[in-house]
This record gives sequence, C-alpha cells and structure tokens, in this order.
Amino acid sequence: MTEGRFTAFIGMGSALPDRVVPNSHFEATLDTSDAWIRDRTGIGARHFVSDGENTSDLVVRAARKALDSASMNPEHVDVLVVGTFTADRPMPSAAVIAQAKLRMSCPAFDVNAACAGFSYGVSVGAGLIASGTAERVLVVGADVLSRKLNMSDRSTCVLFGDGAGAAVLSVADEPGIMASSLAADGTQAHVLTIPAGGVEQPVTQEAVARGEDKINMTSGREVFRRAVLSMTQACRSLLDKAGVRPEDLALVIPHQANARIITAVAERLGVGADRAVLDIEEVGNTSAASIPVALDRAWRAGRLRPGDLVLMVSFGAGLAWGAHLVRWTAQSPEAA
Ligand code: ACO
Repeated sequence: MTEGRFTAFIGMGSALPDRVVPNSHFEATLDTSDAWIRDRTGIGARHFVSDGENTSDLVVRAARKALDSASMNPEHVDVLVVGTFTADRPMPSAAVIAQAKLRMSCPAFDVNAACAGFSYGVSVGAGLIASGTAERVLVVGADVLSRKLNMSDRSTCVLFGDGAGAAVLSVADEPGIMASSLAADGTQAHVLTIPAGGVEQPVTQEAVARGEDKINMTSGREVFRRAVLSMTQACRSLLDKAGVRPEDLALVIPHQANARIITAVAERLGVGADRAVLDIEEVGNTSAASIPVALDRAWRAGRLRPGDLVLMVSFGAGLAWGAHLVRWTAQSPEAA
C-alpha cells in the first residue's frame, strides 16, 4: 500500500436495453399476474436485450456515460474491471470485448461475484489504486440475465432484468471510500445456481430439458431471509467501524432484488424510506448492475451531492455480499 492513496468516485453512468418487458408479458405464458409480481417484489417491468445485443454492449454504453461525466476519455483509464456472471462468451472476459469496443488499451478483466459483482469490483479497483498500480479504474457492473432465465419458471423469470452501471474511481487525497467489507458463504452455493455450462456439467440436451443451463433457485424464501440478515449485518458493522450513525447517511443503496427486502433492511437499520433507494419498479433485479444503476439514477436525479455519505450494500448468489461506505465526491452531471 502507498500512503495517502485514497479512492474517490468521480463519475457514474448506466445503461438499460431499449426493450421494455412489462409484467403483462408473463401473464400470457405463465400462471402469474401483474398484481402478484408487484405485490411480492415491487417489480412492474424490466428491460431485456434484443437479438445481437450483448453484455459488452451495455458495458460500453454505461462506460461512455461514466467517462463523460468525469470529463475523461477511454485512454485515461488504467484498468477496466467488469463485475458480471453473464459475459458474452465463457472466454475471454466481457471486459476485454468492451475494452476493444471502447478502443482502450488498458488491462481488463471480469470479476464474478453474481449480484455482488459491483461491490467486489469496487474493492478490487480501490485495491489497485491503493497499491499504486492504477490512478483511475473504471468499474462496471453488468449482466444480461434474460439469456439465463428459464422462461417457464415463474419463481425466477419475473424477477430479473438486463443492464449495466459504471463508476470511475480515481486516486484521491481524502477518503471517498471510507470503509468496505466483502463476504461469501460457499456452503450455500446450491441455493442460487446455474448447474450446467461449466466444466463440471456440460450443456447437453438433457441438461437443457431440465432447465439446468439457466438460473435455478431452490428457495426464494430462504434467499430472501439471508439477504435481509446479511445486508443488515454488513451495514451495521461497516457503520460501527467508521463511527457513522444511520441518521448521518444521505442515501442507502441496497441491491435491488425485491422491494420488501429493501424495506426490511432499511427498517432494521433505522433509515427512513426516503433515504433507502428503491429503483426496482421499472428495472427489476439487474444483478451486478443493480447498485450502480440505482446509484447513477439517484445521482442524476439530484439525490446525492458532494460531501454526502452513501452506503451501498449487495447480496447474491455465492452466496456473496459486500458493502461500501462512501463520502460522495462527484459533482452532479449538470454542475460538472
Ligand atoms: N406468480 C405467482 N405465484 C408465484 C410466483 C409468480 N411469479 N412465484 C412464486 N409463486 C408462488 C409460489 O409457487 C408459492 O405457491 P405455493 O404456496 O402454491 O407453493 C407462492 O407463490 C408463495 O411462494 P413464496 O416463495 O413463499 O413467495 P414469496 O412471498 O417468498 O415471494 C419471491 C417469492 C418473490 C421469490 C421472494 O421469496 C424473493 O424475492 N426472494 C428473494 C429471491 C431473489 O431475489 N432472488 C434473486 C437473486 S438473489 C438476490 O438478488 C438477492
């Protein structure tokens, strides 16, 4: 570590595919309803990619907006980190495909921590900055869930959407990232998994017939319970570590999996609903993109100003989760 090398957020951007898929789309093919989905999840619609549109395309769109907001060009980036589990191909990474499309020449790689991919990517980026390896790191959370959903499984296919969110991290004299934590529990790998398509189990016709090449969730209720517990605990210990009270926070940005999870976490933390960002109704759960998309949209809506304290907390398959307490530094896009 190099003394005095802190990390600040200096730009944000996000991208959603143009194709909007409302809940009514699922009513035609599944035993479900707009009322059930809204009531149990808070989701009204999500965006799905079109044919020929891939994860790297969303990375590029979000990255361009983030770089613009930081008044930077792609060549100013020292490292590109993409949090995703839905890369364009199993190999190489989505990051290198996006790097070429952005005409960058920096190192680029993916981090796979499922819905916690952005949290893990931010910690990797901050570590590269703290060690003196990089001055500016572009961290993108991006997932195209629509190509990994079993469209006949009503307990999963209605939950997710596609998207990307990007943050420009820069070396700073003062801490932007004030405290952070990452966690994982691989004993629960089975509760949310794509069983086939890795080296353990190839994608065969039989595996496809069983839906094993798509997201499988053994118990939504158990994921719900663990998400509330883990995110609340991660936030509490981070606030304790930093000596910050919940009432000092301008915003909390929890992973956008379910409105009821977000409400439960906010209540347990003692953070009013006006400060817990709920950005799920038109977007759904975009996995690694969920926090940076919600953050970008809140920032562009004027809900976050330089000097504000923001707490981001993720949770997802792995199980893996993470939290970052940030003193916000980026000017609003209008002021920049
Ligand atoms: N439409 C209608 N009924 C449904 C649907 C649907 N889309 N999905 C499930 N149901 C049914 C179930 O089959 C069950 O029926 P049964 O009682 O006849 O068996 C009934 O609704 C109740 O099921 P529960 O699982 O108890 O419903 P719950 O209120 O817990 O809501 C949900 C289910 C939305 C999945 C919720 O548990 C949840 O959000 N869990 C978190 C899961 C999650 O977000 N996973 C995403 C990845 S991980 C992450 O990002 C945190």
